[in-house]
Amino acid sequence: MTLRREVRWLGTVSITCALIVGASLAAEPGTTSSFHPGELWPDNKGVHINAHGGGILVQGGTYYWFGEHKIKGPQGNSAMVGVHCYSSRDLYNWADEGIALAVSKDPKSDIVEGSIIERPKVIYNAKTGKFVMWFHLEPRGAGYEGARVGIAASDSVTGPYTFLRSLRTTAGTWPMNFPDVLKSGPLPTVPIPQGSTAWLQANLMGAIVRRDFKDGQMSRDMNLFVDDDGTAYHITASEENGTLHISELSADYLGFSGRWIRAFPGKHNEAPAVFKRGGKYYMITSGCTGWKPNAARSAVADSMLGEWRTLGNPSRGTQAENDTTFESQSTYVLPAPGKPGAFIFMADRWRPNNPVDGRYIWLPVLWEGDRPVLRWMKEWSLADFK
Ligand code: GAL
Repeated sequence: MTLRREVRWLGTVSITCALIVGASLAAEPGTTSSFHPGELWPDNKGVHINAHGGGILVQGGTYYWFGEHKIKGPQGNSAMVGVHCYSSRDLYNWADEGIALAVSKDPKSDIVEGSIIERPKVIYNAKTGKFVMWFHLEPRGAGYEGARVGIAASDSVTGPYTFLRSLRTTAGTWPMNFPDVLKSGPLPTVPIPQGSTAWLQANLMGAIVRRDFKDGQMSRDMNLFVDDDGTAYHITASEENGTLHISELSADYLGFSGRWIRAFPGKHNEAPAVFKRGGKYYMITSGCTGWKPNAARSAVADSMLGEWRTLGNPSRGTQAENDTTFESQSTYVLPAPGKPGAFIFMADRWRPNNPVDGRYIWLPVLWEGDRPVLRWMKEWSLADFK
């Protein structure tokens, strides 16, 4: 890239956005003009951005980054504060917009302090005028057994968001790609340990889908994707993290339409991030190794509820980098501003012993034909997109 080209581009965006958003807090472009994956990323107050497992909503030309607010020490792996929001006009410089969804002090609340709130994502519903937040929610003190989603909404993008409810997903509906023959007959038991051959077999036979049919399916690592026609989808690690579920949301984005599929049964995908290019849907996921990074996977489909085909590990680096996705785990893929067909891969380099120090790995999505690939870049900018 040349610095001049980049400054000119940012200048255009800045003027346009100033007209649209008026007095937004969004940081002025100019202080920083490149991404530095893995390094501390100071906000407009000089504090490392605290929005882990995040995602980005573009609204009126301003970018809003929502993520898990972490605190120091292992206790920071629980939700002690809530969901943090930042705004930016150029993606490099971020202004602290405060806590968009605060945890509750009420022990009866699903989002009580000390519960687990992960991977929050916000989408805007043009029909209702509401900003809608979905996140992975685990009730306090029960580890990851709850496997629920939380839903919150606000009239204002930066919040405050009001917590509406928590639930398990798609209760009482069958996946569209679930054979009738698996819907009845003796319920296969779900063996322990997970991951054993017997467990995999039961998973493939839909044992967990059937077990959870009435009360709703498990949902842990999750994401949202809004298609060009406004249809929104929830993508989540379900069935004890064995199988992804992709579900169409209702028109108000506050629930499910009942149309959903299972993807990659028994393949243990987590951290799904979906994007659309040239009419095709792409997904980057991780494997399941908790906070430890593992090799990413990629996939493609002709429709969100269609057949997903694997494309393999997208990382193109050293063996160690490929095996750990550059020491990170996917959280979102953002269309690059002003660059049709270009995308930014966003990932977390977790620091579970001191979560507040978790780092952000943003890399350009490159292409080998129709295959998205990732290469390490110590420093880069949007001008690097050809
Ligand atoms: C990861 C997951 C994170 C968090 C963590 C807890 O696999 O992606 O969001 O849930 O496990 O161990």
